Formats: sequence, C-alpha cells, structure tokens
Amino acid sequence: MTLADAQRRHASLAAEIRGHDYAYYVLAQPQIADRDYDRLYRELSDLEREHPTLITPDSPTQRVGGQPVSEFKPFTHAVPMMSLDNTYSQAELREFVNRTQRLLPDQSLRWVVEPKVDGLAINLRYENGFFTAGATRGDGTTGDDITANLKTIRSLPLRLASLEKVTIAASPPQLLEVRGEVYMTRAGFEKLNRDRQENGDEVFANPRNAAAGSLKQLDPRIVATRPLDIVLYGLGGIRYAEGAREAFQPASQAELLAWLKKLGFKTPERTWFCHTPEELVAAIAELDQWRGSFGYETDGAVVKLDAFALRQQAGATAKAPRWAIAYKYAAEQARTRLRQITVQVGRTGALTPVAELDPVLLAGSTISRATLHNEDELRRKDIRLGDLVIIEKAGEVIPAVVGVEWEARTGCERCFEFPKQCPECQSPVSRTSVAGEETGGVVWRCSNLDCPAQIRGRLEHWCSRGAMDIEGGGEVLVAQLVKQGLVKDVSGLYRLNVFDVANLERMGGKSAQNFIDAVAASKGRDLWRLLFGLGILHVGAGVAKALAKRFASLDDLVDASRTGLDNVPEVGPIIASSVARWFAEPRNLELIQCLRQAGLNFQSSLYKPEAAQGGLAGKTFVLTGTLPTLKREEASARIEALGGKVSGSVSKKTDYVVAGEEAGSKLAKAQALGLAILDENQFLELLKSARG
Ligand code: IVH
Repeated sequence: MTLADAQRRHASLAAEIRGHDYAYYVLAQPQIADRDYDRLYRELSDLEREHPTLITPDSPTQRVGGQPVSEFKPFTHAVPMMSLDNTYSQAELREFVNRTQRLLPDQSLRWVVEPKVDGLAINLRYENGFFTAGATRGDGTTGDDITANLKTIRSLPLRLASLEKVTIAASPPQLLEVRGEVYMTRAGFEKLNRDRQENGDEVFANPRNAAAGSLKQLDPRIVATRPLDIVLYGLGGIRYAEGAREAFQPASQAELLAWLKKLGFKTPERTWFCHTPEELVAAIAELDQWRGSFGYETDGAVVKLDAFALRQQAGATAKAPRWAIAYKYAAEQARTRLRQITVQVGRTGALTPVAELDPVLLAGSTISRATLHNEDELRRKDIRLGDLVIIEKAGEVIPAVVGVEWEARTGCERCFEFPKQCPECQSPVSRTSVAGEETGGVVWRCSNLDCPAQIRGRLEHWCSRGAMDIEGGGEVLVAQLVKQGLVKDVSGLYRLNVFDVANLERMGGKSAQNFIDAVAASKGRDLWRLLFGLGILHVGAGVAKALAKRFASLDDLVDASRTGLDNVPEVGPIIASSVARWFAEPRNLELIQCLRQAGLNFQSSLYKPEAAQGGLAGKTFVLTGTLPTLKREEASARIEALGGKVSGSVSKKTDYVVAGEEAGSKLAKAQALGLAILDENQFLELLKSARG
C-alpha cells in the first residue's frame, strides 16, 4: 500500500470508528457487533504500526496513550468555574424565582430544569475543533490538568463531530470550553466494587467517590479500566477566528444543549422548560420520578435561566451565579437503633466496622447491617452503641450510618473502642497505608498472615469462579476446612483426601468426592487464574492476564519481579512493586513450591514472545532536546506503536537516548552511563528496522 493509500484508509477507518463510538457510547445504540468493531480497530492500529506518521492525537487509538505522571499540571480556566447555591426547600426555590424576577423586572423568565448529575465538574477545551485539554474545577480559577485521564472516556469526542461534515468544518471555534460532569455509571460502579472486593482493594462508598478516585489516578491506564462517562451542560468560553464563516453562538441553554448534541457530546437525559414556580415544582417532582432510570446518580435538579442575555443581567455573587440554583432531593433515610458494632476482617486483613441494627425498611429493603467505613468515620460522627442512628441509602450506595439523632441521646450510650487487636486472632493491628490506596491510610489491618479470617478469605478467593473456579469451595465449606485445621493455605486444598472432607458437617461422600475432583481439575488451570487466585494486592484478573501474556511461566515472572517489572502493558509502578513485594516474601515462595509439588500448571497459554509484540518491545527510550523534524509526541507515538516505552529520566535501564539540539543534563548522564545515543537519522533507521 502506498502512503497515500494508507492515509486515505486511515482517515476512513478513523471516521468509521468514531461514528461507532458515538453510536455506542453517546447514543447507546450500537450499530455493529463487537467483533466487527474490534476488526476495524485492529486494522487501524496495524496501519498505524506500519505508518506511524499517520497517528494523530485524535485517532481512536490514542485514548490510552498517556504516560503516568508524578503530579498534575495546573490548568487555568478561560472563564472561572463557579458553583451553585443549594436548597432543599420549595419555599426557598420560590423565593429564588421571585428574587430573580425582581432583578429582571418586565422580563418574562423561562427556566430550564436539568438533572443534577452527582459526579465531578469538568472543563473541556477544544482548539480548532480538537480536544486539547481538560481539567477539574479545582478552586474555580485553576484546576488539575487531567487531559490524559479524560481522553480515556469513550463518549468524549476527541474532535467535534460536525467537523466531519463540510458545513461547520469551515469554521469550528478557535477556542471552545464546555463544562459538564464526569460520573461513574451505577452498573459500572457495582461491578468495579465487586472486582475490588475480590482483589482485596478497598471498595468505594458511592459512584461519586469512585469517579473522583479514578480521575485522581496518575496513570491513565488505570483510569481507562474505570467505567467513567461524561455529560455536558455548560459553556465556558467560545471564540472564533476573525472572519469565520459560521460563527455560531448559542443564545440560550436550549440552543446550547442542541448544539452540544450536534457536536457529538452527551447532554442531560431530559430537560424541562418552565415559567412559574408551580411549573418548576412540578418538573422537579417529575424528575424525581424519572431519575431512577438514568445511568447515573442524580442528587437533585438544577434550575437555570434559559436566556444567556438575562443571565448576564442577573450577574453573580462572589461564588455563585444569581441565575441558577440547585434543588437537592433528600436522600432516603431511616432511623433505627444501633445495637452492636462488629468488626469484619477481610482477605487482606483490613478491619471494617459494621453496624448491627434493629431491622428497618429503607428504599425498598430491610436493613439490619450498615457499613461504618472505618475508625476515622466513627470518631468524626461520634457514633455510640445504643444511639438512635440515621442510615441512608441513595441508589447503589452501600447502606451507611450517616449520623446520630442527638436529641434522642439518654447518656446511656457507650463509646465503641476500636479493637487494637484483630477480633479473629488477637494479633496486633496496624494502620500503615498500602501503596496505591485511593482512600488514604485509614484502614487498620491485622498483621497476622495466619489469621483464620484472612485464610478463609484467601481460600474463598482462590476457589472463586473468576480465579481457580473450584466448584463447592464456598464460604461454608471453607470455614469448616479452616476451623478443623485441615487447610492453612491454598496449597493445603491439594493435600486433602475424600475422607477428610466427608467427615465435615453436612458433607456426604458424594459431595466430598465432587469437591476433591473439582480441586484436582483446577491443577490444570491457566497461569493467569493462578496469579489472580494468589490474591496479590492490586493484581486483579486484568493485570493477571497482562502478566501472563508477558511471561511464559510463573518462574519467569518471579525472576523478573526481582529486577523490576518494566514494560508490561497495564502494569504501572504501584502494581509492579506490589508484585515484587509479594514474591520477595519467603512464605509466599514456599507456597509456590508447595503448589509446584502438588502439580499445578505454571505455564501460560497467553504468553506471546516479545518478537510478536512489536519490534521495540522491552526497550526503553528517553527523548531529550529538539529533533530537527520530529516532534516529541510524534517520536513517542512511534516508539510506543512498536511496543517500546518512553521514560522521562535516564538510568541504567534506559536502552536508547534520542538526543537533539540543546540536549542538556540527560545527554550528559547518558554519556556518563555509556548508553546508546541516537540522533534523529539513527533513530529513524532504528524504527525502520524494528518494523521489520
Ligand atoms: S450548572 C455556575 N448543571 O453541580 C455553575 N451543574 O452544585 C453552573 N452539576 O458545580 C453549574 N449537574 O458540578 C449545572 N445539569 C447541571 C449539573 C451541574 C451537576 C454540578 C456541577 C456544579 C454543582 C453545583
């Protein structure tokens, strides 16, 4: 294929994929089967591997290209991002409407009611139609530049949709800033928490926290695995080039939303237009009926003036506009007596306080337990045994104790002493934070790896469907095996005999034999299942598969973990160090020996030799100085397209340093270390030979 042909094919593939992304992620109306989509996507990335010059920043392949950063750069919003005044009361809402009318006498006011999406406010910048940057609200003036994280959100257009149609392509705004909310879908949130529970990671309390924790990640590859979405409802700034042909400026919220939709953005599910406080109240009540069916949590309604000119006239106070207000729905709450606090010990030793309550009906189900999250939360809310507590459940959120009915206190309530020992095994607990923890080091952990609760958790996880898939290895049987001292770690399962198992309560000879057979069958499972089953912190099924693709056997992985797990896709520094730590533990190595003796499969069927992964797989590059023709991003993209990695700093592990004009200390360091240093021509030669 000539370069010109490749260029044409690339453009048409990219446009086709963008169209499918839009249909799937924005409209939720997929047009083709996943398999066919994958085929298009693979053709595009193959084409880009062959012709790296074709890679554009808005290519569908570039959503997860970003490198981990050590901190976010500050981003100054073109127009400050304000927040809104809140109210829970209809009377205040009426007062707000009347006040606005007094500010704008003689005007007929049209109001828009939109769902108040419970996520994080985000600002997106498009330059000449291309997504160039995005940031959090921050203090309103300056936020964090989280562009690479935002690019992973598939419903976020990397270029404005109408650009592909000739009419508006003539004049996209030179600068466009649009505002909206990043959220996690309810379904995605539930699945994420299930996975995190299985991996021994802390669960998120609600979709909002999960979205916030995700966007805070410094490694966009992690963000890409999170089910985030974005909806747009606001305008920051808009500027056209002088003499632009179709310099469209929305004059109202209605026009803005219609325009945003045309540009390819997801906009609020439903809106209502109202003229009187009565109509507003009715619309807000209707939204309340509807919001359960939205993909996201809606914690209220936003009421805003429709006409932008009137907004201008109404103005703003120091922190909030005078033309809008947020009406918040009260979360579903119930009051009940806190009888006891139990402390559960998870697979990783994490201690979670759980409220044992008098059963009470809340949001359609009877609740008798609710999470108290952790000790800090307990203290902050001053929750005591015997208190009449308020529990809350909003949508998919785990029922939680949110407060205490102070008036009901009699003085007989007792403070809860958070245990200084593990409630299962009485070992000391400690509160050191674990690397990569998104909620901060607020969790107490049992320090005893032989803690029966931890052993049970590890065994259940090993047997679970997603891991070694051992039928029958559920909570009840595992608890008995541990209680009877028959099994102390997962290798013990392979030393059980049918008589041991048949002697347990409620176990017949037949079910005992079935279990023993299931255990035996698990010996042949693929390496990634075993890796996932070991329950290494941060090693979920996805990471386990990534490792199994990169290493032919468990022994290769153990060896590599000693020198550092660089260059494994999906494995960042936090995961790498967690894996290294795990394999450095003598007792874990002993466990591996026992599993080997038991005859478990250590070979990976997913393994692909490096050669098949791209000609630069396993190679690390550092770029420094200015190259005569290649831009830095372009050079990086070409290296990555061939499986190589680009790093920001020179070390012994660097394979090549590509140096241009005014290369400074990095070049000097490379020379001192005796590394291979390439100029642009040599670099291009290397790329050519790496492409084969
Ligand atoms: S308009 C000048 N519309 O709620 C601020 N905000 O409580 C204009 N939010 O910071 C904001 N859904 O993060 C607006 N449909 C919506 C919204 C919405 C959610 C958030 C937003 C804002 C916060 C204010």
